[in-house]
Amino acid sequence: MTVAHNELRAAIDQLPRAGIAELPTPLHDCPRFSAALGGKVRVLVKRDDLTGLAFGGNKTRKFELALGDAVAEGATAIVTGAASQSNHARQAAAAAAKLGMKCVLVNRHDRRSQMGIQGNQLLGYVLGADVRLVADGVDQGKVKQQVVEELQAQGEKPYLIGRRASVLGIVAYAGCMLETAEQLEAMDTAADFICTASGQGTQAGLALGVKALGLPLQVQGFSPYKGSGAQRIVQLAEMANEAAEFLGLDVHLAAEEMENTDAYVGEEYGIVTEAGLDALHLLARTEGILLDPVYTCKAVAGMIDWIQQGKFPAGSTVVYVHTGGNPALFAYAPELIAHGDYRQNVVTE
Ligand SMILES: Cc1ncc(COP(=O)(O)O)c(C=O)c1O
Repeated sequence: MTVAHNELRAAIDQLPRAGIAELPTPLHDCPRFSAALGGKVRVLVKRDDLTGLAFGGNKTRKFELALGDAVAEGATAIVTGAASQSNHARQAAAAAAKLGMKCVLVNRHDRRSQMGIQGNQLLGYVLGADVRLVADGVDQGKVKQQVVEELQAQGEKPYLIGRRASVLGIVAYAGCMLETAEQLEAMDTAADFICTASGQGTQAGLALGVKALGLPLQVQGFSPYKGSGAQRIVQLAEMANEAAEFLGLDVHLAAEEMENTDAYVGEEYGIVTEAGLDALHLLARTEGILLDPVYTCKAVAGMIDWIQQGKFPAGSTVVYVHTGGNPALFAYAPELIAHGDYRQNVVTE
């Protein structure tokens, strides 16, 4: 079953908000980038890198609802964590600061943090988070649980970012699809494909929005990690369906309706690819839009390849949903400098 724009809007609008995200984000036409790719496919970028909070990104849109929920529950602290260069962690720290909450980040002491404090990790400290780094072999989930108990013992009311927050994040991205559909209508145009870097929630939410509104377009996810086989696609559909149920929508997505590829990951998650760095430089130099080295540049590399292979046919319009992540650029300076053969031209006279 499909629903009207205002019904989806009403279902989302009944949820509490944190008031931290700058929405709607702009939808930018990218004529110079499209021309550089041959000019047969029109590319627009939905600027969720501009959600506003401490360099923005997709997590700020998700936290608008997830932390709205936390505030409604009376939470006084947030507990979360992922990789040391996690954009999620940085945006959680910023949101906590704005909401006057404590934030404990339980991140991994991975290769990037062993190289020093940079990028998102640096910003975690700047934003006042209590940053803890879990050594190899230590159970990160267990440490998060210990932190929850530690905070409770101090009289805090901690909100562990987990499954409920993920579902609310998917709802937020169904809302992003609605926002994008309305922007396309206002531009008197229609899209044929949506592309995005996809871990989990963003793609599931966009696909839910497409299905709920009955839009004639396909969402293509480009995974930042290996393993986008049948099981992952089933998972994405399950998550979208859980969010539909949460919203009380009679909408169901089948696994076959989810498109996701890990063909552009390269060696592994967090290791740059040549094609990704080429994509990053092309978008920067044609449109002044920055990508990150872990998620978005690999997704844009995939999108470029698909345009060049004709998988997005001539005459079609593709919306790339930019999920942010730009602070990680600084943690990858050595790779960027080597790729671009950058030198400091010192003028001495
Ligand atoms: C920049 C960026 N893009 C994409 C993703 C993936 O988001 P999601 O898990 O919602 O698909 C993340 C985080 O995991 C991210 O930081």
